[in-house]
Amino acid sequence: MTERSPRLAAGLPDAGQGRRSLVITIDGPAGSGKSTTAQEVARRLGLLHLDSGALYRGITLALLRAFDGDLPVDRVDAARIGTLELEVAWDSEGPVIRLAGARVPDEDLRSDAVTAHVSAVAAVPAVRGWLLGAQRAGPRFPGLVADGRDMGTVVFPDADVKVFLEADTDVRALRRLRQRGVADPSPGEVRTEARKLEARDATDAGRELSPLRVPAGALVIDTSDLGFEEQITRILERVEAAG
Ligand code: CDP
Repeated sequence: MTERSPRLAAGLPDAGQGRRSLVITIDGPAGSGKSTTAQEVARRLGLLHLDSGALYRGITLALLRAFDGDLPVDRVDAARIGTLELEVAWDSEGPVIRLAGARVPDEDLRSDAVTAHVSAVAAVPAVRGWLLGAQRAGPRFPGLVADGRDMGTVVFPDADVKVFLEADTDVRALRRLRQRGVADPSPGEVRTEARKLEARDATDAGRELSPLRVPAGALVIDTSDLGFEEQITRILERVEAAG
């Protein structure tokens, strides 16, 4: 991995001197590579990383447990969320999700049950309201790279740099399967995964509140045929240009 750019690190606005911290948003559909990209941009620039999808997954997991796996989203409101013992704390890299005092492991957040329910939960106004506060209340110094669906449009509309990642559905499906350890997926497996991604995209883009959209002024990158390094370079160039 390339080292963090000294020029960028040195040029970061210093909140201690009363200047704003740098905020970079990376939005896009499921499996477009937002989180890995955001994590790497944050690492190179020495910034915090907010994976907002993990927060939506955390609240979905908490609700699945509270309702014993059978989740009626029409019964989810602010009062119910208040009973969940869900906490968003921050460590030096980003948010840590705790449920009943215990840190929730990543594999629980990314389980099939959570993935199957998360988009329906994310469309509930009380859920979005609760998480809007949790996302904005987090630390911003020395800066934040936030990834999700509405980072540049709703949560951080004044972000310094906005990015939107997209890729062909089959490419996203293949990446997802490989991420899960399926080294050589069959065409049928790719098709099934692609259908799941499309269903989630449709719910995320079709909901009334904070739908998945390209933010105005965003750098749009189609990563279907792009190497990871090239993608990171384009984003870092945009950050330098904005500085
Ligand atoms: O990693 P992947 O693209 O599969 O999804 P994620 O980023 O973990 O997000 C999971 C789900 O949370 C999405 O499908 C959305 O329904 C919801 N989400 C959202 O509504 N708004 C965000 N800012 C982030 C995630």
